[in-house]
Amino acid sequence: MLAIEDVIIEAPADGEIVDPLSWFDSPGPFELEIGSGKGGFLISRATSNPHIRMLGIEWANKFFKYIADRIARREIENVHVMRTDAKFFVMNHLPPECIDVLHLYHPDPWPKARHHKRRLMQPDFVEAALKALKPSARWLVQSDHEEYFHEMRDLLDARTELSQIPWDKRASTPGPEWEGTNFEIKYVREGREIYRAAFVRSEPRP
Ligand SMILES: C[S@@+](CC[C@H](N)C(=O)[O-])C[C@H]1O[C@@H](n2cnc3c(N)ncnc32)[C@H](O)[C@@H]1O
Repeated sequence: MLAIEDVIIEAPADGEIVDPLSWFDSPGPFELEIGSGKGGFLISRATSNPHIRMLGIEWANKFFKYIADRIARREIENVHVMRTDAKFFVMNHLPPECIDVLHLYHPDPWPKARHHKRRLMQPDFVEAALKALKPSARWLVQSDHEEYFHEMRDLLDARTELSQIPWDKRASTPGPEWEGTNFEIKYVREGREIYRAAFVRSEPRP
């Protein structure tokens, strides 16, 4: 079993810019998952792809501790977890061009109109996240909430630095197979539709 302290990355101090690869023993493509929930996707992706380096960010303490415990028990060394507000983290603590793949799956939809301002995907967040993507990085979004999904897709589609690519298992998520997120697995069982979009950062479109 790994020590929990070796699995957890503390939220950075005010003004600190992190160096994601310094959290790992060796370099590799860096992938960030925002809102990892119970960590099903994070852990399966890191386990099936030992060459990648992953950070999962989860705000809810209960889930954060659950993920850290799962990683420690399974002694997975290419994945860490941080408890913080991912929006604040992305906007204030990431260096430019550090992410190879950004995973955002089933972010809270805040369905009531008066709560839409709480949604993670807003233009200021998109702006900051784009700066943190490497050239050719991919940004994958998925939701069971049709309206929020279309809002997210439109926000990304409006950015000339991004081009939509097919949601192809190999192109979007290289690895032996796509491992569903906890929400995805539950909703697929219930027969609910899942909406997905994949983008690649590229030269700005004219
Ligand atoms: C609907 S759940 C989806 C969990 C997982 N992605 C899945 O598909 O199974 C959304 C998760 O995002 C977390 N979350 C919401 N806002 C967050 C934020 N600003 N920073 C980090 N985590 C956040 C919630 O605590 C929750 O665990």
